[in-house]
Amino acid sequence: MTFPLNFTIDRESEEPIYRQLIRQIKLQIESGQLPAGTRLPASRDLADQMAISRISVVNAYAELRAEGYLSAHAGRGTFVARDSAASGTTTRSNGGLSNPSGDDKADTLPDYSLRDMMRLARRPGVINFSYGAPPTEFFPVQALRDALNAVLDRDGAEALSYEMSEGYMPLRVAVREYVSALGIRCSADNILITGGAQQAIDLVVQALMSEGETLVTSMPTYLGVLDIARARRVQIYSVPQDEHGLRVDHLENYLLDNHTPRLIYVMPTFQNPTGNVMSMHRRRQLINLAQEYHIPIVEDAVYHEFRFEGEPLPPLKALDESGMVIHISAFTKMLLPGVRIGYLISNSQHYERLVRVKQAADISTSGLNQRAVHHLLTRGVLAQQLERNNRELRRRRDAALRAAEQYFPKDAEWHKPEGGLYLWVRLPRTGPTAAELFITALQRNVSFAIGNIFFTNGGGQYHMRLNYGQQRPDLIDEGFRRIGQAWQEMAQHYGAAMEKSPML
Ligand SMILES: Cc1ncc(COP(=O)(O)O)c(C=O)c1O
Repeated sequence: MTFPLNFTIDRESEEPIYRQLIRQIKLQIESGQLPAGTRLPASRDLADQMAISRISVVNAYAELRAEGYLSAHAGRGTFVARDSAASGTTTRSNGGLSNPSGDDKADTLPDYSLRDMMRLARRPGVINFSYGAPPTEFFPVQALRDALNAVLDRDGAEALSYEMSEGYMPLRVAVREYVSALGIRCSADNILITGGAQQAIDLVVQALMSEGETLVTSMPTYLGVLDIARARRVQIYSVPQDEHGLRVDHLENYLLDNHTPRLIYVMPTFQNPTGNVMSMHRRRQLINLAQEYHIPIVEDAVYHEFRFEGEPLPPLKALDESGMVIHISAFTKMLLPGVRIGYLISNSQHYERLVRVKQAADISTSGLNQRAVHHLLTRGVLAQQLERNNRELRRRRDAALRAAEQYFPKDAEWHKPEGGLYLWVRLPRTGPTAAELFITALQRNVSFAIGNIFFTNGGGQYHMRLNYGQQRPDLIDEGFRRIGQAWQEMAQHYGAAMEKSPML
């Protein structure tokens, strides 16, 4: 079998070439593109073909052997290991369906080589759909400059001092008013200002869970929550979802089986990565179930206000009468990701503990940034910004739908998002997996997020998440065209390769 040479070596990267090689060979093994038993070219040949030094190849092979991905046979060459723990066992399992038995463990969290691979998308010139961020042209640079000046003029050194761990009180009051427009009734005393939504989730996990306990989430889910689970050594139980959101019936069966998870994490509106919105019925079902079993729900609402079409649904916290819901959101996605201002709203029972954990984590979130966001929020800059962003996001969503229709394979599937940043596309199985497609797409200077990384159970191999919000409509068209073309070309060879594979 000939070795497919579809590698991208980035000579400008700080990452050594041998590490780039390791990452890409691993990815090809895990995606099944390099099946067990495949013979790799001799190090000298590969070095010559790729115009890199032989020592880079020798080092890469040595490390991959040490990790069990490759095996060497004296006089015969280097092969993809037959019994390698890495050889496609996770990525080939169930092709994108969530694991209904759901007994995923934190130690089966997504493979970091896939994520590392996606870092290549940062190269200049790449039309990048892979990030989870809004585009930089949305950020109100001048308004922030004015806000910082105004705050420093008003508060002087006070603005640069340590802040209360709970947060800058005027911002907490402004947040209370802001969320009351979404139907959430709370006191400023129940609001804790955090370093973005990411820190808020982490604080809740630390405050309410112990090592080894179980966190319930939907599958696929937000990558950041998987990172937290890994870092805090908690187990993940993954519940399937459909277009109406988390399958509450599955969760109920799990609970009826005497399992006792400590926390349920959901993104009811414009879920990352699927863009799904949980229906009203499911929202109520979930709250009732959590109440019945006394399991707190963490509601991550960072995309809630990114709606540019359809009727808004209330956040879970607005429907919650028992205090089971901890609401998390932030001014990051919609305004300024780098300023790192988020918040959580919790009942008094958990609040004290959360403040202690926050204090231990970083004493407080930057008082200067809290004052600046308070200034922007209370002067209506946020509302204007949101309106402008949503108008532009809708244009980009429309461009994405048009381009997907025109260029993506005819059996690919997606839902029309009514908000948020993402298009979640299922590729037909008659062609490459998303990881395989990613490698070729990157050679054409376009990238997306590989579905696999959002699953804990090897699912998502035929899914890709495209952040259409990141690009102008003309670049969306061009980027989707390149992805579509890459798929078509690979799909032609794919059929032939599948026929040959039993002889390997
Ligand atoms: C669902 C979800 N929650 C939280 C975050 C983190 O947001 P923040 O920048 O506010 O920490 C992200 C970022 O991608 C996200 O997608």
